[in-house]
Amino acid sequence: MSDWTRVCARDEMGPGAWRVVDVDGAQVVVVNVDGEHHAIEDVCTHDGGELAGGRICGHEIECPRHGARFDLRSGQALCAPAYEPVHVFPIRIEHGAVWVRDDRWD
Ligand code: FES
Repeated sequence: MSDWTRVCARDEMGPGAWRVVDVDGAQVVVVNVDGEHHAIEDVCTHDGGELAGGRICGHEIECPRHGARFDLRSGQALCAPAYEPVHVFPIRIEHGAVWVRDDRWD
């Protein structure tokens, strides 16, 4: 089981903010949606583009390259040209900070 990676202090990342963190070699986009944090792999399942910086609307993020959209809560692909989900990582709020962990190898 991998360790938790600290993203930032909770108050450094208000609603609407996002950032990319390296979690054991995986690039992960962490997004604050109305006070609720979500973390997804920064790799679009259409053609490997980065999702970071994509338009965020509610719980959806749009890939900047060709416009596929993904649900930040489930990773589910919501429209073409992506059909496969992106991985969603567990988030923890502890000691005033946001933490994320890669659970794919548990
Ligand atoms: S790489 Fe994301 S939609 Fe094409």
